[in-house]
Amino acid sequence: MRSLTDIVELSTQEIDEMIAVAQDIIANPEKYNECCRHKQLATLFYEPSTRTRLSFESAMLSLGGSVLGFSEANSSSAAKGESVADTIRTVGCFADIIAMRHPKEGSALVAAMNSTIPVINGGDGSHNHPTQTLTDLLTIKREMGHLDNLTIGCCGDLKFGRTVHSLISAMSRYEGVKFVLISPEELRVPEYVREEVLDRKGIEYLETDSLDQHIGDVDVLYMTRVQRERFFNEADYIRLKDSYILTPEKMEHAKKDMCVLHPLPRVNEISTAIDSDPRAAYFRQVRNGKFIRMALILKLLEVNV
Ligand code: NCD
Repeated sequence: MRSLTDIVELSTQEIDEMIAVAQDIIANPEKYNECCRHKQLATLFYEPSTRTRLSFESAMLSLGGSVLGFSEANSSSAAKGESVADTIRTVGCFADIIAMRHPKEGSALVAAMNSTIPVINGGDGSHNHPTQTLTDLLTIKREMGHLDNLTIGCCGDLKFGRTVHSLISAMSRYEGVKFVLISPEELRVPEYVREEVLDRKGIEYLETDSLDQHIGDVDVLYMTRVQRERFFNEADYIRLKDSYILTPEKMEHAKKDMCVLHPLPRVNEISTAIDSDPRAAYFRQVRNGKFIRMALILKLLEVNV
């Protein structure tokens, strides 16, 4: 039995296979609509979510399965002091697979270690968000046609933004990928990402605080929200929150065939005037999230189609 708590647990071949399954689901949805009949997905969300939880639920329903769960810690026994380990053991008595989100780094790993059924990490604090990364990879593949030889610009809160950490880890596996890491000094990628991923693999990357200077260099621009809930003080958040705002004027300097991604929710980082630009891929990215999660559920439940 396998869980997914960190993107490093998947081989590149497995990621590529899941992307291929997701593309087949998009092309032939009816082939998959009974695959998880009588299977149940539990969504345990201790932190707010719209896309991740609903896309998991929609994914399971589209596979013919059913869903149960909670969407806030306060409505679960966590409010009474129950540990994640005990909640997971309990849910394992009812469901076949769990998708969870929790504010603490490492909570998904604790859950997986205590689970009798597969656990999928839907975000653990500022650490990791592997299913967003699978979504991002499927989106890059569909928008750009390939995952290798790309310059990826990550812009915004690279310190607390968990999606960025998993994305860098996954994209670093593909040949010829370079990164431009655009953030204020205080929100640079954590040292472990620099040392254990970028430096260890000898990946070419640049750290800068200027979006304007580098927007013309990137093939993919991955915008992120400043993660207010992870800040220790509100004044720092207010000072940093509008560090980068992508506007139509800025997009004039970007490549004609680049794409703009954002895990969403957006606050102020992308002007809504860009939504109609063909390069704005973030709502297509939301759609892709459902299909890749269908592929992941099939894989972890070991369903043969
Ligand atoms: C992201 C998250 O939860 O980390 N959202 C998502 O899952 N699509 C990004 C964010 O909250 O900024």
